[in-house]
Amino acid sequence: MAENKPVRHAAIIMDGNGRWAEKRLLPHLEGHRRGVEAVKKTIEASRELNIEYLTLYAFSTENWKRSQEEVDGLMNLLDEFIEANLDEFNRNNIKLAVSGRVSGLPESVGRKVARAVELTAGNTAGTLILALNYGGRAEIVDAAVKIGRKLLKNELQPEEITEELFARNLYVPGIPDPDIMIRTGGEFRLSNFLLWELSYSEIYVTEVLWPDFDKGEFIRAIEWFNRRKRRFGGR
Ligand code: IPE
Ligand code: IPE
Ligand code: MG
Repeated sequence: MAENKPVRHAAIIMDGNGRWAEKRLLPHLEGHRRGVEAVKKTIEASRELNIEYLTLYAFSTENWKRSQEEVDGLMNLLDEFIEANLDEFNRNNIKLAVSGRVSGLPESVGRKVARAVELTAGNTAGTLILALNYGGRAEIVDAAVKIGRKLLKNELQPEEITEELFARNLYVPGIPDPDIMIRTGGEFRLSNFLLWELSYSEIYVTEVLWPDFDKGEFIRAIEWFNRRKRRFGGR
C-alpha cells in the first residue's frame, strides 16, 4: 500500500464539553474549562507530532444561540487562554491565526486576539488557527463579497475566478487544506466547519469527549489516517 504523506494540517471539532460536565453533574462551563486543558495538551502534541497547522473549532456562528451565561463564560475562557499562553506561543515559535468573523466577537476579546496574532506573526515553527465566530457558509459568503468588491473596482474579471483565486479569499489563505478532520463527541456531522477546505480531508470521529482528548487519542487518530488510502478521485 502506498504510504500517505504525513499530516501537515489537522483540524478538530472540539465537541462534548457539555456532556462531559453533565455526566459529572457539573455546570457546562466546567466542561469548557476542562476543554481548555485538552486544548493545551493538543497544541503540545501537535508540535511533537510535527503537524505544521492545527485548526481548532472553538466557537461557531451558531453557538450564539446558547445562554448568555454560557456565551459569556466561553468568551472569558478564550480571553484567559490567549492571555495565559501568548508568551508560550512565542517561546515555542508558534504563530496564532484566527479564522472567522472577528468583528463579531466582543470588542475586548477581538482586540486581544488581534494583538496575539500580531505579536506572533513572525513565528515559524507551526501555526495554530483558532476558528472563532466561524461558520463555513459565512466564510464562503465573505470570500464572495471580497471578490465582488474587486470585480466592481475592475481589479478582477469574472473569467479570472478560479478555485485557487477563490481559496485565496478565504479567512486564512495560503495554507494546505486539512489532511485529517477529527471530531470528538461522536457526532457524524460537520456543523458548518470548513465547508470549502474539507473537500478531500479524511474524517475521523471518536466517542471520546473533548475534555478527555489527549496525546494518546491524537496519535490514535493519526495512525488511523496513516491506514487510509487517499485517492482524490483517481485510482
Ligand atoms: C463543544 O462542546 C464546545 C463548544 C461548542 C464551544 P459542547 O458544549 O457543544 O458539548 P456538548 O456537545 O453539549 O456535549
Ligand atoms: C460544533 O459543535 C462547534 C464547536 C465545537 C465550536 P456544536 O456542539 O456547536 O455542534 P452541534 O450543535 O452538535 O451540531
Ligand atoms: Mg456540542
